[in-house]
Amino acid sequence: MSGGRGPGYDQRLARERETFAGQEEIHGNLPPSAHRWSNRHVRPKLEALGVPGLDELIVGQIAERARGLSRDAVVLSLGSGNGDQELGWLRGLAAQGLDNVRLRLLELNPEMQARAEASAREQGVADRVELITADFNTWRADAEHDVVVGFQALHHVLDLEHLYGQITGSLTDGGVLVVHDMIGRNGHRRWPEAHEVVDRIWATLPPELRRNALTGQLDEQFVDVDCAADGFEGIRAQDVLPVLLDFLHPSLFLPYGNVIDPFVDRIYGHNFDMDNAAHVALIDKIGVLDDSLLDLGLVTGTRLTALFHPAPQPLRVHGNRTPERSVRDTRVVDPAGRVSFRPGGAGERLVRGAGIVTGRMNGIAHDDWAAPSVEFPVLTTARVDAVEFRTYLPDDAGEHGSVTVSVDGVPVAKADVGPGLTEQVLPVRLDAHRQVRLSFDADWSVTAGGDRRTLAYVLVGLGLLEG
Ligand SMILES: C[S@@+](CC[C@H](N)C(=O)[O-])C[C@H]1O[C@@H](n2cnc3c(N)ncnc32)[C@H](O)[C@@H]1O
Repeated sequence: MSGGRGPGYDQRLARERETFAGQEEIHGNLPPSAHRWSNRHVRPKLEALGVPGLDELIVGQIAERARGLSRDAVVLSLGSGNGDQELGWLRGLAAQGLDNVRLRLLELNPEMQARAEASAREQGVADRVELITADFNTWRADAEHDVVVGFQALHHVLDLEHLYGQITGSLTDGGVLVVHDMIGRNGHRRWPEAHEVVDRIWATLPPELRRNALTGQLDEQFVDVDCAADGFEGIRAQDVLPVLLDFLHPSLFLPYGNVIDPFVDRIYGHNFDMDNAAHVALIDKIGVLDDSLLDLGLVTGTRLTALFHPAPQPLRVHGNRTPERSVRDTRVVDPAGRVSFRPGGAGERLVRGAGIVTGRMNGIAHDDWAAPSVEFPVLTTARVDAVEFRTYLPDDAGEHGSVTVSVDGVPVAKADVGPGLTEQVLPVRLDAHRQVRLSFDADWSVTAGGDRRTLAYVLVGLGLLEG
């Protein structure tokens, strides 16, 4: 995705404001399994890097700078929400006798800013706190900052290049950007290599561990929700790290989490009862597996705690989890070289609705990848007025174009196929109870990963819509 703001931006912004307006407890409702995992698999790694906790890391960075200054140290917090954490930092600093600190809270949501303002007044520190109610995709830095904090905020940014530019330009020479954020695939989805592992674990889970808190259903398949579908949640999560590395230099770098994520999130994580020894053992084992996959370089971290600076610094990392090894190459569909990834979910029939496929589907492979030319016979069960054409291409597919749909060799419609999951309704009319040959001709082809086949797109589904 480009760094620009495009169509739909205002709707997404409105949705983002709506989502957070009523949220007084942003980090509430985290499942106990998340705490178990983080205490066993994250905290010790941070401690080994000399970081006792996140608040201590941030307060320590501010204190280090405030101590050496005769003026106020200026701290900017990005997407600061209700400001609770930030006010906690001020209290932590005051406890160390440091009160030469000024907080700037950059937040889109006026309701949250009002809550931050009320808390600052209640705590008698309103004169130390400046509210900047703005969109960080367009905000322009108007002061120098000694410390900038991106705490669960960068994965909401669309124009990372703009924001990183503003941060970099406003950091003092000795300044620091503290990052604690999500850096996995856009929309917080799994990349294929992780999806496959999660699917295999899923197949072993008893029903009570597969309950989806959003729908109340027991999910036969792991549902890989795209959180970026409407607001800004995870909108460019996969770019947060690589783009940042173009602007600033890390001194502390700890990426973690990936296949564990679905088991410690708010959708499935609450199924795990931390008083149940079997559930605890499972979380611990997946935690160990995840760490091994990360250390072997088979998956890349979905979360990051790190410090970044304007100039190169000596770097502290966990083992071989370096920045270079932590960037997922988004041009590769499946690093193992197979193209076996089914984004539409397994088990669905490819052709649904008012007709059945009555012969061989030429050009469709076992994994639903379509060759540039696809052809198959269909017997309609009712009159068809339109065809719903669902396709998928990897996010960064360089090649794509249009597909011509023909009925008995006569072109009747055209679809434009782009990256990601696309769904189009095409005006294709077919009489009821007729045998016809449908064909789909793409005007491009790709070879993906180590696959030697000539492919065009993944045919996720075809719906024959009744008139
Ligand atoms: C996941 S919350 C994190 C809040 C806080 N940093 C914390 O960890 O408690 C993300 C925050 O980013 C804010 N946000 C989202 N889009 C924004 C934008 N375009 N400009 C400024 N803030 C934004 C949201 O309103 C929300 O408060």
